[in-house]
Order: sequence, then structure tokens, then C-alpha cells
Amino acid sequence: MEISNWDIFWAGSEEKDYWKEPDPFVLELIDSYPQEKFPRVLDLGCGMGRHALAFARHGYEVTAADSSRQALDHVEERAKKRELKVTNVLGDYRSPLFAEGSYDIVICYNVLYHCLREEMVRAINLCQKYLKPGGVLFFTCPTRDDGKYGDGEKIAPHTFLSENSTHPGALHYFSNSEDIDCFCTGFEVLSKKKREYYWKQDGVVNFSSYWQLTAQKIEA
Ligand SMILES: C[S@@+](CC[C@H](N)C(=O)[O-])C[C@H]1O[C@@H](n2cnc3c(N)ncnc32)[C@H](O)[C@@H]1O
Repeated sequence: MEISNWDIFWAGSEEKDYWKEPDPFVLELIDSYPQEKFPRVLDLGCGMGRHALAFARHGYEVTAADSSRQALDHVEERAKKRELKVTNVLGDYRSPLFAEGSYDIVICYNVLYHCLREEMVRAINLCQKYLKPGGVLFFTCPTRDDGKYGDGEKIAPHTFLSENSTHPGALHYFSNSEDIDCFCTGFEVLSKKKREYYWKQDGVVNFSSYWQLTAQKIEA
């Protein structure tokens, strides 16, 4: 697989504290969907594995997948240090990677929108396939109110190579509410929240507006 610009991002030596701490909303999934009933977890686009490691710590059987070798090297090193077992898979989420019905939980935190809209739809459909019936998908994606909307080169409708990002130059598709409903075909939406907050990068204040979705695969 060719070296992506994400490899350059994850290889950088600067502090990446933000990418090491799990999001509290993901941790809530551990309470809501316990390991005994939902044993197999896929962290798709895992980055440094903050969520994969959190689930592994709670006894889940975890796969961490990413298209960046550098990201997976971080996961491997961090899992080894904590004596946790995580299976790493190098792969592109836009293509089929896993067998149907392999997982109870799929997490895609700040991942699925780094592509064109049609690729995002395909990726969510693939996640639906990877899940067992009754399995749960958690994903986040930016809304059109996000501060990055309109920033950088426009590649397609609502799709930009955002410069004002933690990873400048990364492709972003910005979804509206109707998009989200359409993406969740084959799921029952359990929770659809809009999260908004300010964050600082190099002294500049930015505005984030994200959809946060929890959806359950409809039983056959
Ligand atoms: C913003 S980071 C989020 C990382 C992680 N989910 C977290 O919350 O810490 C996006 C991740 O998606 C990965 N990624 C981007 N495009 C991808 C693709 N087409 N297939 C698989 N992974 C991809 C990147 O390498 C990166 O690790």
C-alpha cells in the first residue's frame, strides 16, 4: 500500500496527547454494551488506538484497522506496553476488509468522512455488513456548521481539502441531517447528537460541529 499523508501525520514527533485519550462518549459504550453480550469490537480508522486499547482493557476482543502503517505501529507499541491484545489490520475502509457478521461493535471516530460522499456511503454499508444483527455502529462526522466548512480546496459538493484541521490537507465531507438519515439505512438510529465546541490550535480558536451517531443493525 502506498504511503499516505496520514503516515506522515502519525510519524511526526510532536506531542499527540489528544489522540491518546479516549473520548468519554466512546467510553460510555463500554457501560451500555458490555463485553459479555458484545464481545467483538472493530476500531476502524483507529489512529493511535485510544479507543481500541480502552475496549481491550475491558476484555473485549479487539481489531484495530487503519490505512496508515505508522498509526498501526503506535497501536502495536502501546498495546504491548500495556500487555493488551489487539489485532492490527492494515487496510482501506473504502474496500471490504472483514467477513459479514464479524463484529458486535464498530467504532469509526472521526474517520468515515475523509473521502467523497459516495465513498462514505459505501464505507457505512460495509460497516453494516461487518456487524452481527443487533450489533452497534458508533461514528462521528462534521456538520456543515463546522468551522472548517468551506476552508481549503473544494473537491466536490460539501467536500474540501481542509487546511484548518488537526491534519491539514485531509479530505473532509460535511454532512447535513438528511445525509445522516440516508447513511443509516439498515440501522435503527439509537442516538443522533450534534456536538459543538471550541478548540485551540497554534493560538487560534476554532469551532467544531460534529454529528455523533449510535445505530443498531436491524435484526434480519
Ligand atoms: C482523525 S484520525 C482518527 C483516529 C482515531 N479514530 C481516533 O479517534 O483517535 C483518522 C484516521 O483515519 C485513518 N484513515 C483515513 N482514511 C482512511 C481510509 N481510507 N482507510 C482506513 N483508514 C483511514 C487515518 O490514517 C487516521 O488514523
